[in-house]
Amino acid sequence: MSELNLVLLGPPGSGKGTQGERLREDLDLPYYATGDILREAVREQTDLGRKAKEYMDRGDLVPDEVIVGAIAERVDSTEAADGFILDGFPRTVPQAEALAAKLSELGRALSGVLLIDADDDEVVRRLGGRRTCVENGHVFHVEFNPPEREGVCDIDGSELAVRDDDKPEVIRHRLDTYHEKTEPLIDFYDHQSLLRRIDGAAPPDRVAAEVERTLATLKLEADEAI
Ligand code: AP5
Repeated sequence: MSELNLVLLGPPGSGKGTQGERLREDLDLPYYATGDILREAVREQTDLGRKAKEYMDRGDLVPDEVIVGAIAERVDSTEAADGFILDGFPRTVPQAEALAAKLSELGRALSGVLLIDADDDEVVRRLGGRRTCVENGHVFHVEFNPPEREGVCDIDGSELAVRDDDKPEVIRHRLDTYHEKTEPLIDFYDHQSLLRRIDGAAPPDRVAAEVERTLATLKLEADEAI
């Protein structure tokens, strides 16, 4: 496979970020997580951040036109020439169509879409216990992946906090938004034979092993198609 263009799809809290961080290191590819990009824009009070904040605080998706440009720019960059990992984008059918159009303009296509799935109860348990490092977004969980020192990031020593959108009422709303706006992408990508399902309910190392196996299969299929 000459390039690897991956999308991580799944409900909030299914472990996309946890697996995405591992993949970024293993594959040495740029990792574009739209949630991280938007949170940084909010912190830096950029134009993008000002437009996105109210939507994010409510647990709504930011409008398609606000996010599509930010991703198109990254996919078209030199650092993404050998491939990229997208986490949290696309999240609506119009976003998926915009991504396909951009890739086609560049003479490229997606290699695969990994659906990391978990049910609503598991999502609520995970997001309720998530703690995120305020400086660099490293992710922990009070029960499933606790830091060595409570409230302190193991990686960079910064403070761990509860994300604004990890409050119980916002979590429920994010889940509703996922079911309504993002779940249709499962069929969208399945029809294009791009979808690969990963059981996100397993412990993180087992999920990582399944992701690794899936990527090996994708590579094999791509090599056979040449
Ligand atoms: P975003 O930051 O992308 O939020 P999300 O999709 O809701 O995903 P999360 O970051 O909450 O979860 P995750 O799947 O990465 O799970 P994690 O690995 O952290 O988006 C935030 C907001 O930005 C959106 O609501 C929207 O407003 C806006 N936005 C972003 N992209 C957009 C777009 N394309 N269009 C429009 N708006 C957009 O894991 C969760 C917890 O579980 C952690 O504590 C972790 O330690 C633990 N955990 C992980 N894996 C396991 C496991 N296997 N077993 C046990 N615990 C685990």
